[in-house]
Amino acid sequence: MRQGNVRRRTLLVIAALTAVSGAVVWQYRRDIFDTRLTVRTYRVETDKVTAPVRLAVLSDLHSCAYGAGQTELMNALEALAPQPDALLLAGDIVDDELPEENAWSVVSQISESYRCFYVTGNHEWWTGEAERICCQMEGYGVSVLRGNCHLVSVEKGDAVQILQICGIDDPDFLNSREQLAQAGGQIDRDLFSVLLAHRPEGFRSYLEYPFDLVVSGHAHGGQWRIPGLVNGFYAPSQGFFPPYAGGLYRIGEAHLLVSRGLARESTRIPRIFNPPEIVVVDILPR
Ligand SMILES: [Fe+2]
Repeated sequence: MRQGNVRRRTLLVIAALTAVSGAVVWQYRRDIFDTRLTVRTYRVETDKVTAPVRLAVLSDLHSCAYGAGQTELMNALEALAPQPDALLLAGDIVDDELPEENAWSVVSQISESYRCFYVTGNHEWWTGEAERICCQMEGYGVSVLRGNCHLVSVEKGDAVQILQICGIDDPDFLNSREQLAQAGGQIDRDLFSVLLAHRPEGFRSYLEYPFDLVVSGHAHGGQWRIPGLVNGFYAPSQGFFPPYAGGLYRIGEAHLLVSRGLARESTRIPRIFNPPEIVVVDILPR
């Protein structure tokens, strides 16, 4: 009799807690499952520039839709003030399951207005057509980085800032270690150097070379977050509570910037407290 009462009370408590949590989730569902596009800005200070240079990062679009003609994404880019000096496409722009039109709509528009640099992500390789995708990017005037570096000159008043933008393919199908060595061998230590590499988990190996900033994606912000408490629950290749889920990390003099990406309808598990983002990084004189 007494055991039956305890069981009944326990069930009532569980039911009450479930109802309360359900009500809280329902009340705050817009914030919790918010998939509106956001812009997140970071700052990196260096002795290697004398005027600010602004880069914007688009990563892990996965061919997702941002309004008719991708206007939502394009409007967010056009609203940036000041405008970015270059755009970095950090891989998984095209998806292996969704149609590619949304991705190419973005690429065709941004390449008309910005200098764009691209590296492959694993999903481009999973299409089985990564080489064709790289050629198509180049057809739009996008610089595809595969173990090489480009110099970017940015005129600011009387001064010209020169950055070195390098990149490597995603390692799923290729030996990107060789590409990393090639790109690392081209670093000019007098210039601010950026390595574009889809996967953040390789950060320590990237640091075998003196890049000033590594830009990655792939982790999707760890999919679920509790702001201020848990920066990401799970990321591919990094597992649970990934060390590089999203944000700006610093090791010694080097920085790693991990975009939480732009994937929306392609994700099978909803993003929680983890809205898709355009990332802006301001490289500022120290
Ligand atoms: Fe990826």
